[in-house]
Amino acid sequence: MHLHKYEKVWIVFGLASLVLFLLIIGFAAFWKGTHPQSHIETIDPQNVEAHESFQPDHLGLTEVADGKYVVNIVASAFHYDLGKEEDGTATKTIRVPKGSTVLFQVTSKDVVHGFQVAGTNVNMMVEPGHISRFESVMKNNGEFTVVCNEYCGIGHHLMFGTVEVY
Ligand code: CUA
Repeated sequence: MHLHKYEKVWIVFGLASLVLFLLIIGFAAFWKGTHPQSHIETIDPQNVEAHESFQPDHLGLTEVADGKYVVNIVASAFHYDLGKEEDGTATKTIRVPKGSTVLFQVTSKDVVHGFQVAGTNVNMMVEPGHISRFESVMKNNGEFTVVCNEYCGIGHHLMFGTVEVY
């Protein structure tokens, strides 16, 4: 079989790129310990209330220190449980002051969901059996829509919430 010179060059280039990228992934995963946010801690998806952070009273926004907040969220088809307002209605909007540091802790009761705060760097996959965590500094004022960006069923497009930075 005769291979044209340029064909050989591109085969070598392709294989070398593959090896290079695999080495980079291996270095990041095994030496640097880089993992998806959802693989930090496990949880029983049938009983998320057993975990302190996901008890009904602990859902939603909590100020843990000056300018530092934690938001606990339970995702399920097709809804984000952000806790309750004082009047007993379900919370739809998380309000934090500009410049605050917010740790989002999200878990799922059923299937894989997404948790993206559009317009910020918060973007996680939420898997049942795992707790996804991501901390971010809310640098800009505005209303940011929380969207589920993993197709989770017929009501996928109904899953949303709002983060308001004032
Ligand atoms: Cu939840 Cu898509």
